[in-house]
Amino acid sequence: MANQLEIRNLHARIESGEEILKGVNLVVPKGEIHAVMGPNGSGKSTLAKIVAGDPSYEVTAGEILVDGQSVMEMEADERARHGLFLAFQYPVEVPGVTNANFLRLALQAKLGQDVSVMEFYGKLQKALQILEWDESILTRYLNDGFSGGEKKRNEILQLMVLEPTYAILDETDSGLDIDALKVVSKGVNAMRGPGFGAVLITHYQRLLNYITPDVVHVMVEGKIVTSGGPELALKLEEQGYEWVKGLAVAAG
Ligand SMILES: Nc1ncnc2c1ncn2[C@@H]1O[C@H](COP(=O)(O)OP(=O)(O)OP(=O)(O)O)[C@@H](O)[C@H]1O
Ligand SMILES: [Mg+2]
Repeated sequence: MANQLEIRNLHARIESGEEILKGVNLVVPKGEIHAVMGPNGSGKSTLAKIVAGDPSYEVTAGEILVDGQSVMEMEADERARHGLFLAFQYPVEVPGVTNANFLRLALQAKLGQDVSVMEFYGKLQKALQILEWDESILTRYLNDGFSGGEKKRNEILQLMVLEPTYAILDETDSGLDIDALKVVSKGVNAMRGPGFGAVLITHYQRLLNYITPDVVHVMVEGKIVTSGGPELALKLEEQGYEWVKGLAVAAG
């Protein structure tokens, strides 16, 4: 069976009927990290949310396949059990649930079985060490009063504990100072390996200095209009998006 996350000709619209995704094609083989860049409003976060199973969008055509299996009929939690992970651009606050409890529940939900406290804390300790974070973050309520940087770092902690097969990380770099950016990158790089594939949505080439992508894709007006190696991100940094907008027009 295909060892890849495949998004095939995905079209989606919002309630008003406006089409946001206009035929997205993206293949991320297991073991690779791909970056998706593109101007504001081009549909990057929408794509991430739809892959995770956000029901507020209507998919009108296309498919999302995880290792060859369609996830289109699956709810968000079922997709997670099939190995998908999404970190949100604006993480929600969940007052009353500690970070550690949330993580353990999420891990149990993903595995479909209980996880012993010992095993769970073993995973946590390892992740916290890589993220250079102390345990006090575990007893805080989920995202409640977390700084922007703490939320982002916490997403990577979730990623490391849940160990998904495929992750879509939306603007993991936004709001991070340079030290936190390095630490978060360390976490993603620690996940790198033959059993893990990821899509990094980012506006800045800077992140890609720390996490070298195998492929860079550019999304404009609801479509991937061009793809290339890491040098494509450098070109965008230098030249902006005007020239890729031309490609979107040419693609029709
Ligand atoms: N639920 C929604 N209701 C109304 N409009 C929406 C909704 N979701 C997305 N859109 C619109 O779809 C377009 C794409 O939004 P999206 O958040 O996917 O862009 P993006 O590429 O992530 O942008 P940014 O780089 O600013 O994060 C925008 O014009 C946005 O306003
Ligand atoms: Mg976005």
